[in-house]
Amino acid sequence: MERLQGRVAIITGGASGIGAATVRRFAAEGACVIVADIQADLGAAIADETGSLFQELDVADDAAWARLMALVLERFGRLDVVFNNAGIVSGQSIEDVDLAVWNRVIGVNLTGVMLGCKHGISTMRRNPGGSGGALINTASTAAYAAIPSDVAYSSTKSAVRMLTKAVAAHCARSGYNIRCNSLHPGATETPILRPALDAAPQLLPVFHAMSPMGRMGRPEEIAAMAVFLASDEASYVTGGEFLVDGGMMAGHPGM
Ligand SMILES: NC(=O)c1ccc[n+]([C@@H]2O[C@H](COP(=O)([O-])OP(=O)(O)OC[C@H]3O[C@@H](n4cnc5c(N)ncnc54)[C@H](O)[C@@H]3O)[C@@H](O)[C@H]2O)c1
Repeated sequence: MERLQGRVAIITGGASGIGAATVRRFAAEGACVIVADIQADLGAAIADETGSLFQELDVADDAAWARLMALVLERFGRLDVVFNNAGIVSGQSIEDVDLAVWNRVIGVNLTGVMLGCKHGISTMRRNPGGSGGALINTASTAAYAAIPSDVAYSSTKSAVRMLTKAVAAHCARSGYNIRCNSLHPGATETPILRPALDAAPQLLPVFHAMSPMGRMGRPEEIAAMAVFLASDEASYVTGGEFLVDGGMMAGHPGM
């Protein structure tokens, strides 16, 4: 259980769901974790529980990222991992999409990931002992099969997939030893699905049935992939896309 011993890792959206499960797992693997989220109470509680540091961060805010990097350098002197995991949904199709909501989803799910990569690379390049690190970007199965009722979410998750490849190839060609991969969960049991389930409880069996395994994923099962991608075991893995979806993308549903 020491696959991330001494690594310094920022986890955005670390206050809840997949992010919180990853904070717990990274801490158990020996990492120094910075929980970065807009939910201060939940984020501080997870940080207390795991011996991590909480820092309030809106991932869409460039200046806030710069402040976070300064804090990380002051406290830890290095940065090894950024898990760009914060994300939001809109529940709006192309017919009812509101421009302010669209812009916010783009800001959090896409610009937020870009800023996490940009600031992460800038800090990781200056690591004592040499440039290096791992960037992990949470996309979704929605990068491959759209959610018609959420045009903004589907668009951002597809874009995160290609953003990841552009970052990965740039870093590798520049000789930075900074890897970048996208992580694509299927339907996973987290609070992000609550509004949809509150509005339509009949969706729960549908979410379970989306995977040929007949069940939704658990946040810990997504966190396990993040551990691999953050660790040295993934030393030759960059620009890749990693489904953790119980086989959802493997075949047509119901056939
Ligand atoms: N749960 C699923 O079924 C599922 C499936 C595929 C992908 N994902 C993705 O997984 C990631 C994590 O989602 P989750 O399911 O754990 O949901 P969640 O709602 O439990 O967690 C998301 C976290 O992101 C935080 N957040 C939202 N906006 C933020 C901002 N501007 N700055 C910083 N933090 C912010 C929230 O406060 C929350 O703590 C998201 O990117 C989501 O799109 C989830």
